[in-house]
Amino acid sequence: MVRDYKNKVVIVGCGPGLKAYISPKALYNINKADILVGSRRLLKLFPDIDAKKMILEKNYKIMVERISAWRSTKQVVVLVSGDPCFFSYTKMLTKDIGRESCLIIPGISSMQLAFAAIGECWDDACFMSLHGRDTEYAELVKKVREQGKVGILTDHKNTPAIIARRLLENGIRERRMFVCENLSLPDERVHEADLVSALNIKTNGLVVVIITKK
Ligand SMILES: C[S@@+](CC[C@H](N)C(=O)[O-])C[C@H]1O[C@@H](n2cnc3c(N)ncnc32)[C@H](O)[C@@H]1O
Repeated sequence: MVRDYKNKVVIVGCGPGLKAYISPKALYNINKADILVGSRRLLKLFPDIDAKKMILEKNYKIMVERISAWRSTKQVVVLVSGDPCFFSYTKMLTKDIGRESCLIIPGISSMQLAFAAIGECWDDACFMSLHGRDTEYAELVKKVREQGKVGILTDHKNTPAIIARRLLENGIRERRMFVCENLSLPDERVHEADLVSALNIKTNGLVVVIITKK
């Protein structure tokens, strides 16, 4: 049976990883899903949801076509980590499916949690993502040079040590680096270092880096 609420694709922010950070509104929508789309990691958060589960990893093109086809008859819910409007599939989904055909439920971003973890406000910070992007180091150097606080999403290639090396190579020294690893998860670690010490930092998992002027 086709019900009218099934027209919109619901994009739900699942927060940084711990289920307690997922909002009741997000859970309400996840519970109503006929089809739940997300990474393996996010789908694992909902073993008891009675919905068809579809993995979204490197198959975005195929998946967006399927979502477009499903959405007229099924309630499709797409899970994204953190907040949907902060460096996620949302930009592509709203473009490809149409903004008016999507409903976005916010989540707590890893960036919010990182700033909370180091006890700093983020209303005067600027942000960038090195997640899956190797070509943005000129932008990083510019931001760190000009701004007092820079929050950076990283990945396994663009690590805190690599970021520190790039900044030092460009003559930037007088900064603090906060490395916020696996926030909200059992192996959470938050540490602070100067850029030279940061060359030796090893991380494993999900990492947000914040760089502040000393
Ligand atoms: C594709 S981006 C998604 C960002 C997400 N939309 C948000 O608001 O947090 C993935 C990156 O977010 C960061 N991240 C996500 N969860 C994290 C966590 N629990 N702890 C630290 N960083 C996290 C990492 O930098 C990771 O590479």
